[in-house]
Amino acid sequence: MKKTILGIVVLSFALFGCGEKKTEVAKAAVAKGDVAAGKALAEKSCKACHGADGGSVAPAIPHLAAQREAYLLASLNEYKTGKRTHAALRDIATKMSEADLLNVAAYFASLPPVAVAAAQDVKHTSPYETGKALAASCGKCHGEDGNAKTPGTPTLAGQQPHYLAAAILEYHRDDRKKTSMKSVTLDSDRMDVEKLALYFAAQTPVQRAPPTRGDAAAGEASSAMCGGCHGAHGVSVDSATPSLAGQDAEYLGKATRSYRTTRQNWGMQRYIANLGDKDIDNIVAFYASQQPKAGDQIPSSIQELAAKCNHCHDQEGNPAMTAPKMNGQDKDYLVMALRAYRDGKRESTTMHNMSFPYSNAIVEGLASWYASQPAK
Ligand code: HEC
Ligand code: HEC
Ligand code: HEC
Ligand code: HEC
Repeated sequence: MKKTILGIVVLSFALFGCGEKKTEVAKAAVAKGDVAAGKALAEKSCKACHGADGGSVAPAIPHLAAQREAYLLASLNEYKTGKRTHAALRDIATKMSEADLLNVAAYFASLPPVAVAAAQDVKHTSPYETGKALAASCGKCHGEDGNAKTPGTPTLAGQQPHYLAAAILEYHRDDRKKTSMKSVTLDSDRMDVEKLALYFAAQTPVQRAPPTRGDAAAGEASSAMCGGCHGAHGVSVDSATPSLAGQDAEYLGKATRSYRTTRQNWGMQRYIANLGDKDIDNIVAFYASQQPKAGDQIPSSIQELAAKCNHCHDQEGNPAMTAPKMNGQDKDYLVMALRAYRDGKRESTTMHNMSFPYSNAIVEGLASWYASQPAK
């Protein structure tokens, strides 16, 4: 199933739940509304914001034209019952009868889609593209694609994205003593840090030079307690926990020892405290000689991510699917809606919950992408 692709790390949308509670909605949609009556009502009560043609009159108001009827009806009912909160719409929806709701949903669904105002430069708004441009300044040490070659300099390619962002911020805060890194990353703001992390996380890691010390076989045995967090053979499946597989041995040794002194992560300190230098050399030899691998769940472009959203959102001819159409939707509205799900301000029967740590950058990128697509 698609569950593993989307689920664990990048975005935790619960993909089950798709069919749940939908029968009710689908049944309601079968009772067709009266388009002419819906039109009269829309002209009176909706036009001021949603336009005569169902096109939004201002940023952050959604287009309604050509939206799925079942979705429009479900949303209106959610405003009415207070499940979805918006003061104006609650007011409007509570005054409407069941028939009014059906009619107005039928009317907006029957309208042709609004033309996308201006084709946007998607490259310009893609967090991956921006991340790549920002990464140019890291290339001379970490490699253009994040595959560093100098001993002591870590590979960033394929590293877990949340961890990467956290690591950059640790240098900002001086939690890690390395002034050269602080100066190179200091001017990047939080969104830039997310974009850099996203770009590097999406690159394919290359195995570093083999370790020159330590006994990998002995290291494997002593790494048993590390694998629970860092993943089998050092490939992490958690976006906040770094992969260690194939990482530069010199860097790994230094990083591990630094938890005894300068690095402030107490969780890690506990595991390192009882290890002698020889144990560390062995464990490092083991991890450094493992095959590196980028996390499965890390998409490498907005289009790739959108393709996953489209499993639900682009399902023509599936009456049970109440996921709304998004192509050509107002960008600011999409940003707002996605943040509302992420921040738990908008509920969804499909548990449309995002837990992606770079969500501001990703949300922005996805919203720009959908807003720039021609509506169908
Ligand atoms: C005062 C401006 C205003 C008026 C009038 C108004 N709306 Fe809205 N409508 C909005 C805004 C803003 C939102 C986004 C609210 C949110 O964040 O949930 C919205 C959202 C919606 C949605 C949800 C769309 C989606 O993609 O999730 C539906 C359906 C809707 N309105 C239908 C109507 C109908 C039908 C009427 C008239 C009976 C109406 N609205 C009148 C401003 C308005
Ligand atoms: C002058 C060389 C140099 C440049 C330029 C540089 N780095 Fe680094 N970077 C290093 C070194 C050396 C380390 C290891 C430092 C340490 O031991 O803490 C490091 C460590 C890191 C780490 C920690 C990795 C981990 O596994 O914990 C991250 C993240 C990072 N750099 C990101 C960046 C980014 C992003 C840029 C560009 C904005 C950048 N670096 C530019 C040399 C550099
Ligand atoms: C309870 C979970 C957990 C366990 C067990 C654990 N780690 Fe970690 N490890 C983490 C997390 C989380 C981080 C990131 C911490 C940070 O931001 O400094 C980390 C960071 C590291 C780093 C820094 C990587 C880098 O790129 O800078 C190394 C090296 C490391 N761990 C090695 C080990 C070793 C060796 C063991 C076993 C002896 C171990 N860890 C056990 C969770 C764990
Ligand atoms: C498992 C199916 C599923 C997947 C996958 C999915 N969605 Fe949704 N989405 C839904 C459903 C169902 C709704 C309606 C929920 C509600 O009523 O609030 C929805 C609503 C939305 C809305 C609100 C739109 C509006 O008009 O108010 C946005 C924005 C959205 N999804 C974006 C995304 C993005 C971006 C992705 C991919 C990263 C995605 N969705 C993946 C099922 C899905």
